[in-house]
Amino acid sequence: MVIHDILVVGAGLAGMRAAIEAARHGVNVAIVSKVHPIRSHSVAAQGGINAALSINDSWQAHFFDTVKGSDYLGDQDAIEIMCKEAPDDILELDRMGCLFSRDETGSIAQRPFGGADFPRTCYAADRTGHAILNTMYEQLMRYDVAIYEEWFVISLAVENNVCRGLIAIDIHTGKLHRLHSKAIILTTGGYGRVYRDTTNAIINTGDGIGLAFNSGVELMDMEFVQFHPTTLKSTGILISEGARGEGGYLLNSRGERFMERYAPKAMELASRDVVSRAEQQEIEEGRGTDGCVFLDLRHLSESLINERLPQIRQLAIDFEGVDPVKELVPIKPGAHYSMGGIKTDVLGTTNIECLYAAGECACVSVHGANRLGGNSLLEAIVFGRKAGQAASQNAKEIRLKEFPDNCLSDAAQEIAAIMNRISGEKAAPIRERLTSVMSAHVGIFRDKNRLNTALTEIMKLKERYRNIHVEDTGDVFNTELIAVLELGHMLTVAECIVVSAINRTESRGAHYRLDFPARDDRNWLKHTLACKDGDSVKLSYKDANVKSYKPEERRY
Ligand code: FUM
Repeated sequence: MVIHDILVVGAGLAGMRAAIEAARHGVNVAIVSKVHPIRSHSVAAQGGINAALSINDSWQAHFFDTVKGSDYLGDQDAIEIMCKEAPDDILELDRMGCLFSRDETGSIAQRPFGGADFPRTCYAADRTGHAILNTMYEQLMRYDVAIYEEWFVISLAVENNVCRGLIAIDIHTGKLHRLHSKAIILTTGGYGRVYRDTTNAIINTGDGIGLAFNSGVELMDMEFVQFHPTTLKSTGILISEGARGEGGYLLNSRGERFMERYAPKAMELASRDVVSRAEQQEIEEGRGTDGCVFLDLRHLSESLINERLPQIRQLAIDFEGVDPVKELVPIKPGAHYSMGGIKTDVLGTTNIECLYAAGECACVSVHGANRLGGNSLLEAIVFGRKAGQAASQNAKEIRLKEFPDNCLSDAAQEIAAIMNRISGEKAAPIRERLTSVMSAHVGIFRDKNRLNTALTEIMKLKERYRNIHVEDTGDVFNTELIAVLELGHMLTVAECIVVSAINRTESRGAHYRLDFPARDDRNWLKHTLACKDGDSVKLSYKDANVKSYKPEERRY
Protein backbone atom coordinates (compact mmCIF):
# COMPACT_ATOMS: atom_id res chain seq x y z
CA MET A 1 0.00 0.00 0.00
CA VAL A 2 1.20 3.50 -0.89
CA ILE A 3 1.00 6.16 1.87
CA HIS A 4 1.05 9.97 1.56
CA ASP A 5 -0.19 12.75 3.83
CA ILE A 6 -2.20 14.29 1.01
CA LEU A 7 -3.36 13.00 -2.36
CA VAL A 8 -4.43 15.49 -5.00
CA VAL A 9 -6.62 13.94 -7.69
CA GLY A 10 -6.25 15.84 -10.98
CA ALA A 11 -3.27 17.75 -12.28
CA GLY A 12 -4.72 20.89 -13.83
CA LEU A 13 -4.13 24.34 -12.39
CA ALA A 14 -6.12 23.86 -9.18
CA GLY A 15 -4.46 20.50 -8.51
CA MET A 16 -0.93 21.67 -9.20
CA ARG A 17 -1.43 24.81 -7.14
CA ALA A 18 -2.84 22.75 -4.23
CA ALA A 19 0.09 20.31 -4.41
CA ILE A 20 2.66 23.12 -4.50
CA GLU A 21 1.08 24.69 -1.43
CA ALA A 22 1.08 21.38 0.42
CA ALA A 23 4.74 20.80 -0.49
CA ARG A 24 5.58 24.27 0.82
CA HIS A 25 3.92 23.32 4.11
CA GLY A 26 6.27 20.39 4.39
CA VAL A 27 3.72 17.59 4.08
CA ASN A 28 4.15 14.54 1.88
CA VAL A 29 1.90 15.18 -1.14
CA ALA A 30 1.31 13.25 -4.35
CA ILE A 31 -0.78 13.86 -7.44
CA VAL A 32 -2.91 11.17 -9.11
CA SER A 33 -3.92 12.02 -12.66
CA LYS A 34 -5.42 10.11 -15.57
CA VAL A 35 -3.20 12.09 -17.96
CA HIS A 36 0.28 13.59 -17.87
CA PRO A 37 -0.10 16.87 -15.90
CA ILE A 38 0.53 19.18 -18.82
CA ARG A 39 -2.12 17.42 -20.88
CA SER A 40 -4.70 18.58 -18.30
CA HIS A 41 -7.49 20.67 -19.77
CA SER A 42 -6.27 23.91 -18.11
CA VAL A 43 -3.68 23.95 -20.90
CA ALA A 44 -6.48 24.85 -23.32
CA ALA A 45 -7.54 28.03 -21.49
CA GLN A 46 -6.91 30.87 -23.86
CA GLY A 47 -7.96 34.39 -23.05
CA GLY A 48 -6.74 35.15 -19.55
CA ILE A 49 -6.99 35.48 -15.81
CA ASN A 50 -8.59 38.35 -13.92
CA ALA A 51 -7.08 40.56 -11.24
CA ALA A 52 -7.44 44.24 -10.38
CA LEU A 53 -3.79 45.22 -10.93
CA SER A 54 -4.17 48.75 -12.25
CA ILE A 55 -4.25 51.77 -9.93
CA ASN A 56 -7.42 52.76 -11.80
CA ASP A 57 -9.08 49.47 -10.97
CA SER A 58 -10.01 47.96 -7.60
CA TRP A 59 -10.83 44.56 -6.12
CA GLN A 60 -14.21 46.10 -5.21
CA ALA A 61 -14.98 46.72 -8.89
CA HIS A 62 -13.92 43.16 -9.75
CA PHE A 63 -16.13 41.97 -6.87
CA PHE A 64 -19.17 43.85 -8.15
CA ASP A 65 -18.70 42.69 -11.77
CA THR A 66 -18.45 39.09 -10.57
CA VAL A 67 -21.55 39.34 -8.36
CA LYS A 68 -23.54 40.90 -11.20
CA GLY A 69 -22.17 38.35 -13.69
CA SER A 70 -23.28 35.53 -11.36
CA ASP A 71 -26.84 36.90 -11.60
CA TYR A 72 -26.57 37.45 -7.83
CA LEU A 73 -26.33 33.76 -6.99
CA GLY A 74 -22.56 33.74 -6.32
CA ASP A 75 -21.73 33.72 -2.60
CA GLN A 76 -20.44 37.20 -1.91
CA ASP A 77 -18.19 36.23 1.01
CA ALA A 78 -16.31 33.83 -1.32
CA ILE A 79 -16.24 36.27 -4.25
CA GLU A 80 -14.78 38.96 -2.00
CA ILE A 81 -11.91 36.67 -0.98
CA MET A 82 -11.17 35.71 -4.57
CA CYS A 83 -11.11 39.29 -5.85
CA LYS A 84 -9.06 40.61 -2.92
CA GLU A 85 -6.43 37.90 -3.18
CA ALA A 86 -6.22 37.87 -7.00
CA PRO A 87 -3.47 40.50 -7.45
CA ASP A 88 -1.03 38.73 -5.11
CA ASP A 89 -1.61 35.40 -6.80
CA ILE A 90 -0.96 36.89 -10.24
CA LEU A 91 2.21 38.60 -9.06
CA GLU A 92 3.36 35.31 -7.59
CA LEU A 93 2.80 33.58 -10.95
CA ASP A 94 4.84 36.36 -12.54
CA ARG A 95 7.68 35.77 -10.07
CA MET A 96 7.53 32.04 -10.78
CA GLY A 97 8.32 32.96 -14.40
CA CYS A 98 4.94 32.85 -16.11
CA LEU A 99 5.33 34.53 -19.51
CA PHE A 100 2.50 37.06 -19.36
CA SER A 101 2.20 39.48 -22.29
CA ARG A 102 3.40 43.00 -21.42
CA ASP A 103 2.05 46.47 -22.14
CA GLU A 104 4.14 49.39 -23.40
CA THR A 105 5.35 50.18 -19.85
CA GLY A 106 6.52 46.60 -19.25
CA SER A 107 3.69 45.80 -16.85
CA ILE A 108 1.52 42.70 -17.23
CA ALA A 109 -0.86 43.48 -20.10
CA GLN A 110 -4.61 43.37 -19.45
CA ARG A 111 -7.47 43.22 -21.94
CA PRO A 112 -11.22 43.82 -21.73
CA PHE A 113 -13.35 40.70 -21.16
CA GLY A 114 -17.09 40.08 -21.04
CA GLY A 115 -19.13 41.44 -18.14
CA ALA A 116 -16.23 43.48 -16.76
CA ASP A 117 -16.27 47.26 -16.48
CA PHE A 118 -12.48 47.51 -16.65
CA PRO A 119 -9.79 45.76 -18.72
CA ARG A 120 -8.53 43.44 -15.97
CA THR A 121 -7.83 40.18 -17.77
CA CYS A 122 -4.10 39.36 -17.72
CA TYR A 123 -3.00 37.20 -20.63
CA ALA A 124 -0.21 35.41 -22.41
CA ALA A 125 -1.34 36.12 -26.00
CA ASP A 126 -4.19 33.57 -26.38
CA ARG A 127 -2.34 30.74 -24.64
CA THR A 128 -2.73 31.83 -21.02
CA GLY A 129 -3.61 28.40 -19.61
CA HIS A 130 -0.63 26.89 -21.42
CA ALA A 131 1.73 29.50 -19.95
CA ILE A 132 0.47 29.13 -16.38
CA LEU A 133 0.21 25.34 -16.45
CA ASN A 134 3.82 24.95 -17.62
CA THR A 135 4.98 27.39 -14.95
CA MET A 136 3.16 25.33 -12.31
CA TYR A 137 4.67 22.12 -13.64
CA GLU A 138 8.15 23.59 -13.21
CA GLN A 139 7.25 24.28 -9.58
CA LEU A 140 6.03 20.70 -9.11
CA MET A 141 9.43 19.52 -10.36
CA ARG A 142 11.15 21.99 -8.04
CA TYR A 143 9.33 20.58 -5.00
CA ASP A 144 9.77 17.02 -6.26
CA VAL A 145 6.07 16.21 -5.89
CA ALA A 146 5.31 12.52 -6.59
CA ILE A 147 2.99 12.02 -9.58
CA TYR A 148 0.96 8.89 -10.32
CA GLU A 149 0.49 9.69 -13.95
CA GLU A 150 -2.05 7.82 -16.09
CA TRP A 151 -3.72 6.37 -13.00
CA PHE A 152 -7.50 6.45 -12.89
CA VAL A 153 -9.32 6.66 -9.56
CA ILE A 154 -11.96 3.95 -9.14
CA SER A 155 -13.35 4.95 -5.74
CA LEU A 156 -12.76 7.02 -2.65
CA ALA A 157 -12.15 5.12 0.59
CA VAL A 158 -14.71 6.71 2.91
CA GLU A 159 -15.68 5.20 6.26
CA ASN A 160 -17.69 6.83 9.05
CA ASN A 161 -17.82 10.02 7.00
CA VAL A 162 -14.00 10.30 6.87
CA CYS A 163 -12.03 10.04 3.63
CA ARG A 164 -8.98 7.80 4.16
CA GLY A 165 -7.55 7.33 0.69
CA LEU A 166 -8.58 5.92 -2.64
CA ILE A 167 -8.42 2.98 -5.01
CA ALA A 168 -6.86 3.65 -8.41
CA ILE A 169 -6.02 1.61 -11.47
CA ASP A 170 -2.61 2.05 -13.06
CA ILE A 171 -3.59 2.32 -16.72
CA HIS A 172 -0.17 1.03 -17.86
CA THR A 173 -0.63 -2.33 -16.11
CA GLY A 174 -4.29 -2.62 -15.20
CA LYS A 175 -3.31 -3.26 -11.59
CA LEU A 176 -5.46 -1.86 -8.77
CA HIS A 177 -3.71 0.02 -5.94
CA ARG A 178 -4.67 1.28 -2.50
CA LEU A 179 -3.43 4.82 -1.87
CA HIS A 180 -3.71 5.68 1.79
CA SER A 181 -3.72 9.31 2.97
CA LYS A 182 -4.83 11.73 5.67
CA ALA A 183 -6.59 13.98 3.18
CA ILE A 184 -7.67 14.06 -0.46
CA ILE A 185 -8.16 17.11 -2.63
CA LEU A 186 -10.32 16.59 -5.72
CA THR A 187 -9.31 18.87 -8.59
CA THR A 188 -10.60 16.91 -11.55
CA GLY A 189 -12.08 19.75 -13.62
CA GLY A 190 -15.36 19.91 -15.46
CA TYR A 191 -17.74 17.67 -17.39
CA GLY A 192 -18.25 19.46 -20.73
CA ARG A 193 -18.14 16.11 -22.53
CA VAL A 194 -21.67 15.29 -21.40
CA TYR A 195 -22.62 17.59 -24.30
CA ARG A 196 -22.03 16.87 -27.98
CA ASP A 197 -20.88 20.42 -28.83
CA THR A 198 -18.23 21.47 -26.34
CA THR A 199 -14.92 23.26 -25.99
CA ASN A 200 -13.81 20.61 -23.50
CA ALA A 201 -11.10 18.01 -23.99
CA ILE A 202 -12.20 14.38 -24.23
CA ILE A 203 -10.88 13.84 -20.70
CA ASN A 204 -13.52 16.17 -19.20
CA THR A 205 -16.02 13.56 -18.11
CA GLY A 206 -16.84 14.76 -14.58
CA ASP A 207 -14.99 11.90 -12.85
CA GLY A 208 -14.31 13.74 -9.57
CA ILE A 209 -17.89 14.96 -9.32
CA GLY A 210 -19.19 11.43 -9.96
CA LEU A 211 -16.74 9.88 -7.45
CA ALA A 212 -17.73 12.41 -4.80
CA PHE A 213 -21.45 11.99 -5.40
CA ASN A 214 -21.11 8.19 -5.14
CA SER A 215 -19.40 8.66 -1.75
CA GLY A 216 -22.18 10.79 -0.29
CA VAL A 217 -20.77 14.24 -1.06
CA GLU A 218 -23.23 17.09 -1.71
CA LEU A 219 -23.14 18.72 -5.13
CA MET A 220 -24.30 22.30 -5.63
CA ASP A 221 -25.95 24.24 -8.49
CA MET A 222 -25.53 21.52 -11.08
CA GLU A 223 -28.19 23.07 -13.33
CA PHE A 224 -25.86 25.94 -14.26
CA VAL A 225 -23.84 25.01 -17.36
CA GLN A 226 -22.01 27.74 -19.24
CA PHE A 227 -22.21 27.94 -23.04
CA HIS A 228 -19.30 29.88 -24.50
CA PRO A 229 -20.40 32.22 -27.29
CA THR A 230 -17.56 31.54 -29.70
CA THR A 231 -16.73 27.97 -30.60
CA LEU A 232 -15.84 26.83 -34.10
CA LYS A 233 -18.87 25.69 -36.08
CA SER A 234 -17.55 22.29 -37.19
CA THR A 235 -15.63 21.14 -34.12
CA GLY A 236 -16.67 23.21 -31.09
CA ILE A 237 -13.04 24.27 -30.56
CA LEU A 238 -12.78 27.40 -28.38
CA ILE A 239 -12.20 30.76 -30.02
CA SER A 240 -11.24 32.96 -27.11
CA GLU A 241 -13.36 35.77 -25.71
CA GLY A 242 -10.04 37.60 -26.07
CA ALA A 243 -10.99 37.96 -29.75
CA ARG A 244 -13.97 40.13 -28.75
CA GLY A 245 -11.88 41.72 -25.99
CA GLU A 246 -9.48 42.91 -28.69
CA GLY A 247 -12.41 44.39 -30.65
CA GLY A 248 -13.96 41.54 -32.65
CA TYR A 249 -17.61 41.84 -33.74
CA LEU A 250 -20.41 39.32 -33.93
CA LEU A 251 -22.48 39.36 -37.14
CA ASN A 252 -25.59 37.50 -38.25
CA SER A 253 -26.26 36.29 -41.78
CA ARG A 254 -27.54 39.77 -42.73
CA GLY A 255 -24.26 41.33 -41.64
CA GLU A 256 -25.87 43.02 -38.61
CA ARG A 257 -24.03 43.48 -35.31
CA PHE A 258 -27.01 41.89 -33.60
CA MET A 259 -25.73 42.45 -30.03
CA GLU A 260 -27.03 46.03 -30.42
CA ARG A 261 -30.50 44.59 -29.80
CA TYR A 262 -29.55 42.49 -26.77
CA ALA A 263 -26.86 44.45 -24.91
CA PRO A 264 -26.64 47.96 -26.39
CA LYS A 265 -23.94 49.16 -23.99
CA ALA A 266 -21.58 46.21 -23.63
CA MET A 267 -22.38 44.74 -27.08
CA GLU A 268 -20.12 41.71 -27.74
CA LEU A 269 -18.66 42.07 -24.24
CA ALA A 270 -21.85 41.41 -22.32
CA SER A 271 -21.62 38.40 -20.04
CA ARG A 272 -21.46 34.98 -21.68
CA ASP A 273 -25.00 33.86 -20.84
CA VAL A 274 -26.38 37.00 -22.52
CA VAL A 275 -24.22 36.69 -25.65
CA SER A 276 -24.79 32.95 -26.11
CA ARG A 277 -28.54 33.38 -25.74
CA ALA A 278 -28.53 36.20 -28.28
CA GLU A 279 -26.63 34.06 -30.79
CA GLN A 280 -28.95 31.10 -30.27
CA GLN A 281 -31.97 33.35 -30.76
CA GLU A 282 -30.51 34.75 -33.99
CA ILE A 283 -29.89 31.22 -35.24
CA GLU A 284 -33.32 29.90 -34.21
CA GLU A 285 -35.12 32.90 -35.76
CA GLY A 286 -33.41 32.31 -39.09
CA ARG A 287 -30.73 34.99 -39.01
CA GLY A 288 -27.88 32.50 -38.82
CA THR A 289 -26.28 30.42 -41.56
CA ASP A 290 -26.20 26.66 -41.26
CA GLY A 291 -26.51 26.71 -37.47
CA CYS A 292 -23.99 29.44 -36.80
CA VAL A 293 -23.30 33.18 -36.76
CA PHE A 294 -19.98 34.92 -37.46
CA LEU A 295 -17.02 36.44 -35.67
CA ASP A 296 -15.46 39.30 -37.59
CA LEU A 297 -11.82 40.11 -36.80
CA ARG A 298 -10.87 41.49 -40.21
CA HIS A 299 -10.68 45.09 -39.00
CA LEU A 300 -8.15 44.24 -36.25
CA SER A 301 -5.11 44.00 -38.59
CA GLU A 302 -2.86 41.06 -39.26
CA SER A 303 -0.15 42.29 -36.90
CA LEU A 304 -2.48 42.60 -33.91
CA ILE A 305 -3.97 39.17 -34.61
CA ASN A 306 -0.50 37.64 -34.90
CA GLU A 307 0.68 39.28 -31.71
CA ARG A 308 -2.33 38.72 -29.43
CA LEU A 309 -4.46 36.02 -31.04
CA PRO A 310 -2.02 33.76 -32.90
CA GLN A 311 -3.46 30.48 -31.68
CA ILE A 312 -7.05 31.20 -32.68
CA ARG A 313 -5.90 32.35 -36.12
CA GLN A 314 -4.20 29.00 -36.60
CA LEU A 315 -7.16 27.06 -35.15
CA ALA A 316 -9.56 28.80 -37.53
CA ILE A 317 -7.28 28.02 -40.50
CA ASP A 318 -6.64 24.39 -39.50
CA PHE A 319 -10.10 23.37 -38.30
CA GLU A 320 -12.50 25.65 -40.18
CA GLY A 321 -10.50 26.50 -43.29
CA VAL A 322 -10.86 30.27 -42.82
CA ASP A 323 -8.21 32.89 -42.09
CA PRO A 324 -9.62 35.48 -39.61
CA VAL A 325 -7.32 38.13 -41.08
CA LYS A 326 -9.34 38.01 -44.31
CA GLU A 327 -12.49 36.02 -43.62
CA LEU A 328 -15.43 35.73 -41.24
CA VAL A 329 -15.17 32.88 -38.73
CA PRO A 330 -18.35 30.75 -38.41
CA ILE A 331 -19.07 30.24 -34.71
CA LYS A 332 -21.81 28.94 -32.43
CA PRO A 333 -22.28 28.60 -28.66
CA GLY A 334 -20.83 25.44 -27.08
CA ALA A 335 -20.82 23.85 -23.61
CA HIS A 336 -17.76 25.26 -21.88
CA TYR A 337 -17.85 25.35 -18.11
CA SER A 338 -19.62 23.91 -15.09
CA MET A 339 -20.60 26.56 -12.56
CA GLY A 340 -21.87 23.79 -10.28
CA GLY A 341 -19.94 20.96 -8.70
CA ILE A 342 -18.82 19.60 -5.36
CA LYS A 343 -20.10 21.89 -2.61
CA THR A 344 -17.21 23.37 -0.65
CA ASP A 345 -16.50 26.26 1.68
CA VAL A 346 -13.72 28.74 0.91
CA LEU A 347 -11.09 26.32 2.27
CA GLY A 348 -12.23 23.57 -0.06
CA THR A 349 -13.85 21.57 2.76
CA THR A 350 -16.72 19.24 1.78
CA ASN A 351 -19.33 17.48 3.92
CA ILE A 352 -16.98 14.45 4.16
CA GLU A 353 -14.14 14.91 6.66
CA CYS A 354 -10.65 15.08 5.13
CA LEU A 355 -12.08 15.41 1.61
CA TYR A 356 -11.48 18.73 -0.13
CA ALA A 357 -12.20 20.02 -3.64
CA ALA A 358 -11.06 23.01 -5.71
CA GLY A 359 -11.23 24.38 -9.24
CA GLU A 360 -13.92 23.61 -11.78
CA CYS A 361 -15.07 20.38 -10.11
CA ALA A 362 -15.90 22.39 -6.97
CA CYS A 363 -18.67 24.89 -6.30
CA VAL A 364 -17.51 27.48 -3.72
CA SER A 365 -19.64 29.36 -5.16
CA VAL A 366 -17.87 32.26 -6.82
CA HIS A 367 -19.61 32.00 -10.20
CA GLY A 368 -23.23 31.56 -9.15
CA ALA A 369 -25.44 31.21 -12.20
CA ASN A 370 -22.90 32.51 -14.74
CA ARG A 371 -19.12 32.76 -14.66
CA LEU A 372 -17.21 35.74 -16.02
CA GLY A 373 -14.45 34.90 -18.49
CA GLY A 374 -11.05 35.05 -16.78
CA ASN A 375 -12.43 34.06 -13.37
CA SER A 376 -11.92 30.34 -13.87
CA LEU A 377 -8.11 30.29 -13.96
CA LEU A 378 -8.27 32.70 -11.05
CA GLU A 379 -10.57 30.47 -9.01
CA ALA A 380 -8.28 27.50 -9.67
CA ILE A 381 -5.21 29.37 -8.42
CA VAL A 382 -6.79 31.08 -5.39
CA PHE A 383 -8.87 28.17 -4.11
CA GLY A 384 -6.32 25.51 -5.13
CA ARG A 385 -3.84 27.31 -2.89
CA LYS A 386 -6.36 27.57 -0.06
CA ALA A 387 -7.37 23.90 -0.24
CA GLY A 388 -3.68 22.91 -0.26
CA GLN A 389 -3.10 25.02 2.81
CA ALA A 390 -6.17 23.80 4.73
CA ALA A 391 -5.54 20.13 3.92
CA SER A 392 -1.87 20.46 5.00
CA GLN A 393 -2.83 22.07 8.27
CA ASN A 394 -5.32 19.29 8.91
CA ALA A 395 -2.83 16.57 7.91
CA LYS A 396 -0.30 17.92 10.41
CA GLU A 397 -2.86 17.74 13.22
CA ILE A 398 -4.36 14.27 12.70
CA ARG A 399 -3.15 10.67 12.68
CA LEU A 400 -3.57 8.41 9.66
CA LYS A 401 -6.84 6.50 10.10
CA GLU A 402 -7.19 2.88 9.07
CA PHE A 403 -7.83 2.12 5.41
CA PRO A 404 -11.29 0.51 5.07
CA ASP A 405 -11.02 -3.26 4.53
CA ASN A 406 -13.55 -3.75 1.78
CA CYS A 407 -12.58 -0.93 -0.64
CA LEU A 408 -10.09 -2.88 -2.70
CA SER A 409 -12.27 -5.96 -3.05
CA ASP A 410 -15.33 -3.83 -3.93
CA ALA A 411 -13.36 -2.07 -6.67
CA ALA A 412 -11.95 -5.36 -7.96
CA GLN A 413 -15.47 -6.82 -8.14
CA GLU A 414 -16.76 -3.74 -9.98
CA ILE A 415 -14.02 -4.06 -12.61
CA ALA A 416 -14.38 -7.85 -12.86
CA ALA A 417 -18.13 -7.54 -13.48
CA ILE A 418 -17.42 -5.36 -16.52
CA MET A 419 -14.48 -7.37 -17.82
CA ASN A 420 -16.15 -10.79 -17.40
CA ARG A 421 -19.47 -9.93 -19.06
CA ILE A 422 -19.25 -11.72 -22.38
CA SER A 423 -21.86 -9.67 -24.22
CA GLY A 424 -23.92 -6.57 -23.63
CA GLU A 425 -23.91 -2.85 -24.35
CA LYS A 426 -20.94 -0.92 -25.72
CA ALA A 427 -19.94 2.44 -24.22
CA ALA A 428 -19.81 4.47 -27.46
CA PRO A 429 -23.49 4.30 -28.49
CA ILE A 430 -24.63 5.11 -24.94
CA ARG A 431 -22.24 8.05 -24.80
CA GLU A 432 -23.36 9.33 -28.21
CA ARG A 433 -27.00 9.12 -27.24
CA LEU A 434 -26.32 10.88 -23.92
CA THR A 435 -24.44 13.77 -25.50
CA SER A 436 -27.11 14.25 -28.20
CA VAL A 437 -29.88 14.24 -25.62
CA MET A 438 -28.06 16.79 -23.45
CA SER A 439 -27.37 19.07 -26.44
CA ALA A 440 -30.93 18.81 -27.75
CA HIS A 441 -32.86 19.15 -24.48
CA VAL A 442 -30.62 20.67 -21.79
CA GLY A 443 -29.01 23.49 -23.74
CA ILE A 444 -29.30 27.27 -23.73
CA PHE A 445 -33.11 27.29 -23.87
CA ARG A 446 -34.88 24.83 -21.58
CA ASP A 447 -38.44 24.02 -20.59
CA LYS A 448 -40.27 21.39 -18.60
CA ASN A 449 -41.00 19.13 -21.58
CA ARG A 450 -37.45 19.13 -22.90
CA LEU A 451 -35.98 18.53 -19.45
CA ASN A 452 -38.42 15.69 -18.69
CA THR A 453 -37.62 14.10 -22.04
CA ALA A 454 -33.92 14.30 -21.19
CA LEU A 455 -34.47 12.69 -17.79
CA THR A 456 -36.47 9.81 -19.28
CA GLU A 457 -33.70 9.20 -21.81
CA ILE A 458 -30.96 9.31 -19.15
CA MET A 459 -32.85 6.75 -17.05
CA LYS A 460 -33.01 4.43 -20.08
CA LEU A 461 -29.28 4.91 -20.67
CA LYS A 462 -28.53 4.16 -17.02
CA GLU A 463 -30.43 0.91 -17.42
CA ARG A 464 -28.43 0.00 -20.53
CA TYR A 465 -25.21 0.91 -18.70
CA ARG A 466 -25.89 -1.80 -16.11
CA ASN A 467 -25.27 -4.32 -18.89
CA ILE A 468 -22.09 -2.74 -20.25
CA HIS A 469 -19.26 -4.90 -21.52
CA VAL A 470 -15.85 -4.46 -23.17
CA GLU A 471 -14.24 -6.22 -26.13
CA ASP A 472 -10.74 -5.58 -24.80
CA THR A 473 -10.17 -7.78 -21.77
CA GLY A 474 -6.42 -7.09 -21.58
CA ASP A 475 -4.67 -5.37 -18.68
CA VAL A 476 -2.28 -3.04 -20.49
CA PHE A 477 -3.65 0.37 -21.49
CA ASN A 478 -7.24 -0.81 -21.53
CA THR A 479 -8.68 2.50 -22.65
CA GLU A 480 -12.01 0.83 -23.42
CA LEU A 481 -12.40 0.03 -19.72
CA ILE A 482 -11.48 3.60 -18.77
CA ALA A 483 -14.10 4.92 -21.23
CA VAL A 484 -16.72 2.72 -19.54
CA LEU A 485 -15.81 4.07 -16.10
CA GLU A 486 -15.88 7.65 -17.41
CA LEU A 487 -19.29 7.04 -18.95
CA GLY A 488 -20.62 6.01 -15.53
CA HIS A 489 -19.61 9.43 -14.19
CA MET A 490 -21.08 11.22 -17.22
CA LEU A 491 -24.45 9.58 -16.61
CA THR A 492 -24.35 10.60 -12.93
CA VAL A 493 -23.45 14.18 -13.76
CA ALA A 494 -26.11 14.44 -16.49
CA GLU A 495 -28.82 13.16 -14.15
CA CYS A 496 -27.82 15.71 -11.49
CA ILE A 497 -27.88 18.55 -14.05
CA VAL A 498 -31.32 17.63 -15.34
CA VAL A 499 -32.97 16.90 -11.98
CA SER A 500 -31.68 20.22 -10.61
CA ALA A 501 -32.78 22.08 -13.76
CA ILE A 502 -36.31 20.63 -13.70
CA ASN A 503 -36.84 21.90 -10.17
CA ARG A 504 -35.52 25.45 -10.69
CA THR A 505 -38.65 27.14 -12.03
CA GLU A 506 -37.07 30.48 -12.90
CA SER A 507 -34.45 31.85 -15.30
CA ARG A 508 -31.11 32.95 -13.86
CA GLY A 509 -27.75 33.28 -15.57
CA ALA A 510 -27.05 30.31 -17.81
CA HIS A 511 -30.24 28.48 -16.75
CA TYR A 512 -32.93 29.91 -19.04
CA ARG A 513 -36.42 28.41 -18.79
CA LEU A 514 -38.75 29.36 -21.66
CA ASP A 515 -41.67 28.42 -19.39
CA PHE A 516 -40.34 30.60 -16.51
CA PRO A 517 -38.51 33.44 -18.30
CA ALA A 518 -38.13 35.78 -15.29
CA ARG A 519 -35.62 35.69 -12.45
CA ASP A 520 -37.46 35.03 -9.20
CA ASP A 521 -35.45 36.34 -6.25
CA ARG A 522 -38.27 35.82 -3.79
CA ASN A 523 -38.22 32.06 -4.24
CA TRP A 524 -34.95 31.22 -5.92
CA LEU A 525 -32.10 33.27 -4.49
CA LYS A 526 -30.76 29.98 -3.25
CA HIS A 527 -28.39 27.19 -4.20
CA THR A 528 -29.54 23.74 -5.24
CA LEU A 529 -27.93 20.91 -3.28
CA ALA A 530 -27.99 17.43 -4.82
CA CYS A 531 -27.03 14.24 -3.06
CA LYS A 532 -27.29 10.52 -3.67
CA ASP A 533 -30.39 8.83 -2.37
CA GLY A 534 -30.23 5.14 -3.27
CA ASP A 535 -30.30 5.13 -7.05
CA SER A 536 -31.73 8.63 -7.37
CA VAL A 537 -30.90 12.28 -6.68
CA LYS A 538 -32.29 14.10 -3.66
CA LEU A 539 -32.49 17.89 -3.77
CA SER A 540 -32.43 20.47 -1.00
CA TYR A 541 -31.68 24.20 -0.92
CA LYS A 542 -29.40 26.71 0.80
CA ASP A 543 -29.65 30.52 0.76
CA ALA A 544 -27.07 32.42 -1.28
CA ASN A 545 -24.80 34.86 0.58
CA VAL A 546 -25.79 38.39 -0.51
CA LYS A 547 -23.94 40.33 2.17
CA SER A 548 -22.90 43.34 0.06
CA TYR A 549 -25.08 43.69 -3.02
CA LYS A 550 -28.80 43.03 -3.11
CA PRO A 551 -30.05 41.71 -6.45
CA GLU A 552 -30.82 44.27 -9.15
CA GLU A 553 -31.98 43.93 -12.72
CA ARG A 554 -28.98 42.95 -14.79
CA ARG A 555 -28.35 45.11 -17.88
CA TYR A 556 -25.30 45.21 -20.14
O1 FUM B 1 -12.63 32.74 -24.00
C1 FUM B 1 -11.71 32.36 -23.31
O2 FUM B 1 -10.55 32.65 -23.54
C2 FUM B 1 -12.03 31.54 -22.14
C3 FUM B 1 -11.76 32.02 -20.96
C4 FUM B 1 -12.44 31.47 -19.77
O3 FUM B 1 -13.26 30.57 -19.91
O4 FUM B 1 -12.20 31.99 -18.67
